Amino acid sequence: MEKVVIVMPAWNEEDNISKMIEELVDGEFPKINAEMHLLVVDNHSKDRTEEIVKEASKTRNNVHIIQQGDKSGLGWAYISGFKYAMKELDADAVMEMDADFQHPPRFVKPMVEAYLQGADYVIGSRYIQGGSIPKEWALFRKAVSYFGNLFIRIVLVKPKIHDLTTGFRLTRVKGVLENMDLDNLMEPGRFAHKVDLLYQAIKNSKKTVEVPLEFASRTQEKSKFNTKEMIATFRVATILGIKDKARFIKFGTVGFAGYLVNAIALELFADTSITLGLANVFKGLKNTLLAFIAEPSAWAAAFAAELAIINNFIFNNIWTFKEKKITGFLAIIKKFLAFNLSTVGAIVIQFIVIGVMVVFLGDTRLIRQLGILLAMPLVLSYNYVMYNLFIWKTWSFSKFFKKQE
Ligand code: GDD
Ligand code: MN
Repeated sequence: MEKVVIVMPAWNEEDNISKMIEELVDGEFPKINAEMHLLVVDNHSKDRTEEIVKEASKTRNNVHIIQQGDKSGLGWAYISGFKYAMKELDADAVMEMDADFQHPPRFVKPMVEAYLQGADYVIGSRYIQGGSIPKEWALFRKAVSYFGNLFIRIVLVKPKIHDLTTGFRLTRVKGVLENMDLDNLMEPGRFAHKVDLLYQAIKNSKKTVEVPLEFASRTQEKSKFNTKEMIATFRVATILGIKDKARFIKFGTVGFAGYLVNAIALELFADTSITLGLANVFKGLKNTLLAFIAEPSAWAAAFAAELAIINNFIFNNIWTFKEKKITGFLAIIKKFLAFNLSTVGAIVIQFIVIGVMVVFLGDTRLIRQLGILLAMPLVLSYNYVMYNLFIWKTWSFSKFFKKQE
């Protein structure tokens, strides 16, 4: 049976924790088709939180409590809790959940069910059909939550996910949590760490699903969320958003340099004896559908593309993919050949686009240059996918074709 550990930070929660154990552990766990555990992560509470949980764990072998260590803040509680759940409790999945009933225990079951059906990462979402935020929240608070989410969704480019700051989530250990860098979590002392956890989990998850959550309001209002927390959250999201796109930005810059090489080389090759000679070999095709093969400029375009490929290989290797830099003479030759093979597709795209345009619109400098511009987005997308998948192998196949619902 799958073992799911709910990691529940609790700080001075004596008013909630015993009722939580009753409702969650005694009430909900038996209804769930998994081995369920509750791990309370205390931060040296000044009240009876620890005592109550310790007492409850005497009669229940699926209730545990640890202290989060000497660093305070919610993120540290999760770091300690996740590590304990993986190492000591041998969890297959962990959940993030609050102790104050804002995440009503009845929502645990559908989250675990989504996991049992194959999800790697399950998000308890307030912003999908069936989910909600407290009606009694002031308009301002609702707006902050809503627009905050919208902002993070935009900077991280996660249009398919609706709730990026929820504190109610489930993460598979194998392939996801075990690959996350918990030791360098951003802003572990603040709520902002949630965004880093989400970012890393989504990166590693092959299947992410959102399950509705009716976020309840706290019985006694003592939330620690404030403007400082909000700014930190936006800051983490922005940094991650830029970091995420850094590779693509570098790739784009190298691609632009490649475009210049390509465009200049095209003109240099356009009327040379090589391209005229090659075109001449195929002059018999002049009035057929394959007429573009008899065009010197189509051949010039193919040569120009190869020069651009050499440019792109060198600069992507030493810059865009520098963490995966290919070194050693033989390895470089091998990869360069593979790189060429992969970009045969790009040459073919440019060959056809420019060839066809020249046939229909005439062989002028303007048409050739328009052709190269038109072919560029196609060539760039094709290349980016090929480089990441096959050359520098920063993406895995399963990740590339991951499902998201
Ligand atoms: N161990 C430990 N250490 N627990 C803590 C700490 C801490 O430093 N700070 C808070 N907690 C516990 C609380 O006892 C509670 O169980 C849970 O963490 C959430 O704390 P709240 O203070 O109730 O947070 P909130 O209601 O303002 O924030 C909720 O909404 C945020 C935004 O949607 C939480 O669900 C957050 O996780 C969420 O990001
Ligand atoms: Mn709360």
